[in-house]
Amino acid sequence: MAGMGPAQGRPPGAPDRAEVERLLESFGRHISSSLLRLYRFMGLDTLEWDGEGAICRDAEGREYLDFVGANGTLFLGRRHPRVTAAVREQLDRLTISSRLFAHEPQIRLAEKLAEIAPGDLQYTFFCNSGAEAVEGALKLARAATGRTEIISTQGAFHGKTFGALSATGRELYRKPFEPLLPGFVHVPYGDADAVEAVISDRTAAVIVEPIQGENGVIIPPDDYLPRLRQLCDRHGALLIIDEVQAGLGRTGRWFGCNHTDTAPDIMTMAKILGGGVMPIGAFMARPEVFEPMDENPYIHSSTFGGNALACAAGYAALQAIEEEGLLEQARVKGERLMAGLRQIAAQFPQVIREVRGRGLMIGMELTREGLGGVIIADIVQNGLLAIHSLNNDRVMRFLPPAVVTEDQIDRALEIFGAAVERAAAVAEEV
Ligand SMILES: Cc1ncc(COP(=O)(O)O)c(C=O)c1O
Repeated sequence: MAGMGPAQGRPPGAPDRAEVERLLESFGRHISSSLLRLYRFMGLDTLEWDGEGAICRDAEGREYLDFVGANGTLFLGRRHPRVTAAVREQLDRLTISSRLFAHEPQIRLAEKLAEIAPGDLQYTFFCNSGAEAVEGALKLARAATGRTEIISTQGAFHGKTFGALSATGRELYRKPFEPLLPGFVHVPYGDADAVEAVISDRTAAVIVEPIQGENGVIIPPDDYLPRLRQLCDRHGALLIIDEVQAGLGRTGRWFGCNHTDTAPDIMTMAKILGGGVMPIGAFMARPEVFEPMDENPYIHSSTFGGNALACAAGYAALQAIEEEGLLEQARVKGERLMAGLRQIAAQFPQVIREVRGRGLMIGMELTREGLGGVIIADIVQNGLLAIHSLNNDRVMRFLPPAVVTEDQIDRALEIFGAAVERAAAVAEEV
């Protein structure tokens, strides 16, 4: 593991090397043997231990710049002080409520979301993850319209529970679990004509990401979401925008759909909503659309959804994003990172085909599959964490926190540039 980020010495409380090794073996026996092999292949044969801001530290005391951030969750960085303070305070008062009263953190968070959400999304249902948010959105679309058909997109990623997986557009994840929910069709992403060709008065909803994240940061044409809005209105179908990855600041605006001024009927979110500290998801809807769940709050429910701890984290996170100007920072820092990556791409066109992104949601399309593995193993060894997209191995993704410093961005570019140079040499040999 020589050559990684500077080792600061074993952090206080971290197990010694023998115990780390024993725990890893145990991970292989009790959690996943193939994941353990992958971690070891990447040179990560230790434990993730702690960190703050953009820094992740392992149990040996090595530091990494974390540009994966739990697949985009850690927009506020690790352990943002406002969020951890809010959770600590809440921890001493009310954590999991009885569920027989309303409680303050949930109401404050719902109020704040209604203030920042596009259009007339006034109602929020809280759950615990992105996939759960998508499940709820799909159920609501059926209940609100009395229709069953859902139009989704090829390459889409909406999660892996049965309903969400039925909307997800990748065979690899779908095939072993078929038959999935009936009534789903998948059309090419970014192509409003393809939606127009299949939408009808049987369509309950069109579900779409504002930018396809896991498919490799695919940004649709500017008129895509507005045209889907019109098509849905024309056919009495609902527009569900899945903001689980792009939402809450990642692209430099509150929501990905803000960039083209499109207001959905139902909107999902998760990841950043917990401030990088708590797990929480949510879907929001217009009052008329939410009516079936408003009339009967028991037709869809979740024991942990909307718990006081997670909502306190969420409210503190939204306040921090607003008051610390993190939307603006995502724009400015995203430009710096993207400009640097484009310079590297111009130097090594045999390795990088394209750099694209919005704010701090950035993808790099490589010229060949296989190069990603070489580059990822190299940058990890040198103290930078970045990963390929789940639905598209050829696109590497950078999802750093908005609190990343300019120096950290420049250091990440150095590490990445050197790895691409080495990959270029390998590419020539092969
Ligand atoms: C757009 C989108 N929707 C849904 C999900 C699923 O979220 P989760 O992993 O929290 O279930 C993801 C996860 O990456 C996502 O990117």
